[in-house]
Amino acid sequence: MCGIVGYVGSNNTLDVLMGGLKRLEYRGYDSAGVAVVTDGGAIDSRKRAGKLAVLAENLEAEPLAAGNTGIGHTRWATHGGPTDANAHPHLADEGRLALIHNGIVENFVELRNELLTAGYTLESETDTEVVAATLGRVYREVGDLREAFRRVVGRLEGTFTLLAVHSEEPGVIVAARHNSPLVIGLGNGENFLGSDVAAFVEYTRRAVAINENNIAVITSDSVVVTDFNGEPANVQPFEVEWDAASADKGGWSSFMAKEIADQPEAIANTLRGRIGDGTVSIPELEGLGDEALRAIDRIVIVACGTAAYAASVAKYAIEQWSRIPVAVELSHEFRYMNPVLSERTLLISVSQSGETMDTLMAVKYARERGVKTLSVCNTQSATIPRESDGVIYTHAGPEVAVASTKAFVAQIVALYLFGLHLARVRSSLSTAELANITTQLSEVPEKLSEVLEVGGSIHNLAHWMADTRSVLFLGRHVGYPIALEGALKLKEISYIHAEGFAAGELKHGPIALIEPGQPVFVLVPSPRDDSTMHSKVVSNIQEIRARGARVIAIAEKGDAAVLPFADEVIPVPLAEPLIQPLLSVVPLQLFALELSTAKGLDVDQPRNLAKSVTVE
Ligand code: G6P
Repeated sequence: MCGIVGYVGSNNTLDVLMGGLKRLEYRGYDSAGVAVVTDGGAIDSRKRAGKLAVLAENLEAEPLAAGNTGIGHTRWATHGGPTDANAHPHLADEGRLALIHNGIVENFVELRNELLTAGYTLESETDTEVVAATLGRVYREVGDLREAFRRVVGRLEGTFTLLAVHSEEPGVIVAARHNSPLVIGLGNGENFLGSDVAAFVEYTRRAVAINENNIAVITSDSVVVTDFNGEPANVQPFEVEWDAASADKGGWSSFMAKEIADQPEAIANTLRGRIGDGTVSIPELEGLGDEALRAIDRIVIVACGTAAYAASVAKYAIEQWSRIPVAVELSHEFRYMNPVLSERTLLISVSQSGETMDTLMAVKYARERGVKTLSVCNTQSATIPRESDGVIYTHAGPEVAVASTKAFVAQIVALYLFGLHLARVRSSLSTAELANITTQLSEVPEKLSEVLEVGGSIHNLAHWMADTRSVLFLGRHVGYPIALEGALKLKEISYIHAEGFAAGELKHGPIALIEPGQPVFVLVPSPRDDSTMHSKVVSNIQEIRARGARVIAIAEKGDAAVLPFADEVIPVPLAEPLIQPLLSVVPLQLFALELSTAKGLDVDQPRNLAKSVTVE
C-alpha cells in the first residue's frame, strides 16, 4: 500500500525523498507529499492529490527550504479519499511536527474524540491526522520526541508504519512498525528509512530489517532500535542483492513490458544452484528438515491474486510428484474457514512482496496452531519470510509494475522445485523421473525466450480488439489457472470485463455468455499428451465456435488439429504438460499489455490498485 521514505544526512534531502518515492510509487499513487526539517528550524512541507508527477511539478516550481532531515509518502487511500487534505504528511503541534503513516489505525475514533473534546480541530478525514495531533499533544507534555512517540505508539491499535519528525529536534526521525513494513538503509554519515529497500537502494545496499513492534530512531550517524517499551531489540542486517539499475525501466516503454521480457532470466535465476546432476537441492530448506517433510500428510498453500494462481498451477505438480494432497486457499478466506490443520500439515505462503497483510495473517494463524510454514517470496528479508520456518526466494529481481508477470512464473518454478525436493525426500519419484523433470525445467528459459517472439502477432490482435467489452478465457488442468490469470491480467490493466473458466465447466453455465463475435482465448493442451484432454478442449472450441465465438487458441507448435477451428492460433514451444503453463501464460500477459497500451492506459499503475496490499 502506501510507500514511505525517510532521510537524515547531508545530501539534498528533497532529491533523496523524491527519488525514493519514485521507486516506491508502485505501492500507491493517489497522492504524495514530503516534509523537511529546515536549516532554519521549521517544517516545510508540500502534498498533492494525484500521481507523484503532480507533486514533483509543484516542487520544481517552488522547492522546499533546505534541510538535512525529511520524510516522504505516496498514498493508497484507506481513510478518506485522495485529496490534498488527506495526503500525508500530516502536521501537528502548530506545524512543528510532521508524520506519515502506512496502515490503518483502528481505534482512531476514540483518539479523535479525545482530541475534539480537548478543543483540537482536524482538517482531514484520516486516521493519520489523529495520530499526528495526538503525538503533538503528548510532545507538548513531555518535551521529548522519542518518549512522546513511544507513548502514542503504545496506544495504537491496527496496523501501522509511522515516521515522525519535529522541528525542535532536527536531525532525528522516529519510526515504528506494527504489521506493516519498514527497513533501514545504512549510509556513511547518512541513514534512510523505507517501506522497502527500493526507497534507498540508489544510495546504499546495506540494510537492516526491523521486527514487528519495534521503534527505530535514526540520525545521520546513529540507528537505535528498541521495542515499544524502550528495551533494545534484535535487528537483522543484510546486503541488498540487486542494484538500482535493476529497478529501472532500462529503455522499455513500461515496467510491465520489461518484466515480461525479464522472464527467461527470472526463471534461470530461480533455478540457479538448485538443480544440477539430475536432482534438486535447496539448501534453504535445511531448516525445515527432511524428517519433518517426510511426516507431512497435507499441504495448504495460501496466497492472493496472481500468487494464488501460481499456487493453483503448482498444486497439480506437487500432488503428481509427491502424492501429498495440496489445497490452495485465498489468504483472506483461510483464517475464517476454521481450517483443518495438524502438526502434519505444511503451510506454504506465496507472495511476491512478502508483505501482503492477508497472507501474513494466514501464516501467523497457522504458526499459532503449531503448523510448520514455508514462504515463497521475491523480496529479501520481507516480513512473511521472516515469520516463516523456511523460505525459498524467487530470484526474479524487483518487480515494479502492479500487474505481476515475472514473479508469477518464478513462483511456479520455486513451487515446482519444492515439489521435486519433497518427492526426492519422500522417494515418490524415481531418480530417472527426477532427472527428466529437472532437465525440462532447465530448458524453460530458452523456450520462454522463444515464446516472447509472438509479441508482433499479439500486438496486431490487441489493436484489432481494442474496443472489445468482454473477453473469456478457457483452460483445462494446468490451463485452468492460466485462464484465470489471463483474465486477471486483462481486468487489472485494461479494465475490460474478463473471466476465466475451466473448459469442462463451459456447458454448466458459461456457454450462455457466448454470442456472435465474443472473443475467447483457449489454452489448448498438447496433442502429444496421452490423455484425452486435447480432444476434449478441441470439442469445447467447436461448441463455442458453433455459437459464434471468436476463438484465439494458444496451442503447441504444429498442433494441426486445432487449426480448422480457431480464428487465430498463437503457437507456443513444445513442452510437457506441467511445463506448458510457464509458456502459455506469456501471450496472455502480452495481450493485456498491448490492449492496455492500445487503449492509452497507464500500464504500470492501473486505477484503484496497489502492488503490495498491506492492509486487510
Ligand atoms: C496485489 C497485486 C497483485 C498481486 C497480489 C498479491 O493485489 O496487485 O498483482 O498478485 O497483490 O501480492 P503478493 O505480493 O502477495 O504476491
